Amino acid sequence: PMAPNGCPVSAQAAAFDPFDSPYQLDPAEALRWSREQEPVFYSPRLGYWVVSRYADIKTIFRDNLTFSPSIALEKITPASREAQAVLERYDYGMNRTLVNEDEPAHMARRRELLEAFTPEALEAHAPMVRRLVREKLDAIVERGRADLVAEMFWEVPLTVALHFLGVPEEDMEQLRRFSVAHTLNTWGRPSPEQQVEVAEGVGKFWQYSGQVLKKMQKQPYGHGWMYDMIEKNRQKPDVVTDNYLHSMMMAIIVAAHETTALATANAFRQLLSRPAVWAELCANPELIPAAAEECLRHSGSVVAWRRIATREVEVGGVTIPEGGKILMVTASANHDPAHFENPDELDIYRDNAVDHLTFGYGSHQCMGKNLGRMEMRIFLEEFTRRLPHLELEEQEFTFLPNTSFRGPEALWVRWDPAQNPERRDP
Ligand code: HEM
Repeated sequence: PMAPNGCPVSAQAAAFDPFDSPYQLDPAEALRWSREQEPVFYSPRLGYWVVSRYADIKTIFRDNLTFSPSIALEKITPASREAQAVLERYDYGMNRTLVNEDEPAHMARRRELLEAFTPEALEAHAPMVRRLVREKLDAIVERGRADLVAEMFWEVPLTVALHFLGVPEEDMEQLRRFSVAHTLNTWGRPSPEQQVEVAEGVGKFWQYSGQVLKKMQKQPYGHGWMYDMIEKNRQKPDVVTDNYLHSMMMAIIVAAHETTALATANAFRQLLSRPAVWAELCANPELIPAAAEECLRHSGSVVAWRRIATREVEVGGVTIPEGGKILMVTASANHDPAHFENPDELDIYRDNAVDHLTFGYGSHQCMGKNLGRMEMRIFLEEFTRRLPHLELEEQEFTFLPNTSFRGPEALWVRWDPAQNPERRDP
């Protein structure tokens, strides 16, 4: 087979399938061959140019005029005709938000919406995060065994996200199901039957977002980032547009919780599978922020992100034609030995862990990164203090099949409640 630039496709490039198990289980490992031999390749199965090295990905992130983010939330698997009909029935109109908006509209909008992310504004949420984590821990601390994903890793970040946004904390289970549908719809490869089911979920999510938005717009003095947007939409409707509000409402509910939920599960999995490292954190909790950062590098929750070439351009010696769709595998960049020494090792003392690309890079870099970090830190602080003898159970991990959002669907742990520090020393 030939790539759109006229070059032949190698056997490994032809075989690459991000919905298959090697990539699903460990995307960085699945692209080791590419980092070593063919750092930019065309994937005929995906119809994307895949980029796997740190320096190339950073170059792409740096230039968002040549490499437009407009396809960041496009359905990676085109909708079947039936699924399309379902979406139309729900009047589905997800369009530009921040993450997929081009310049100059993007920066003008981002600048208007920064206030909610100042360090003081974020710190004000810390007591609530701690209270939520403590309540969830209280509920299981005497139990001896739990699936932390089911018990708290998605629900706490979702509650925090809704609180941060000012969205009523209702229908949590439903929002959870909507989010899974949104992830599959955007980054998955649902089968033809699943497509219709996923489209139903996404359509309902779209309608729900619109209803919540209308309700919020009637309340002039609410608190939260969505209220900031509603206010800016009143003041500067050409910068913070109507369609933006509705699209953002849906996208941000997912972006602000799923990413953090999966990152927390990945971090606990990595740390607990290295009992010596876990013990070190229990003894020295001041190491927790660095450990969380290293986990975001080693096993991030966002593993790949997209751009589209607005002109013919060369990346890593390969010519990508105008209109070429690009999948940057950031998980692979985070394991690139050209940037990170012994990249496959989890080293909580690594001095450049923070260079990871899990939050993206450049003008679109994640606005919520410090909220996500804070949640991970508080989870780790509470667990290392209250359940230092926590152990990972032997288990097989499963992942929702998609290109970009990654974390185990369950995380079983156990501990001996008789050894709980608060029982021995109440
Ligand atoms: C953008 C990851 C948590 C809000 C992004 C991007 C990534 C990402 C990869 C795209 C960056 C780019 O194109 O350069 C993550 C991860 C998180 C997380 C891994 C948790 C561990 C959050 C939270 C919020 C949030 C908690 C909200 C409160 C946003 C927004 C953008 C964004 C608004 C768009 C920024 C722009 O385009 O200007 N995030 N995110 N994220 N994220 Fe996050």
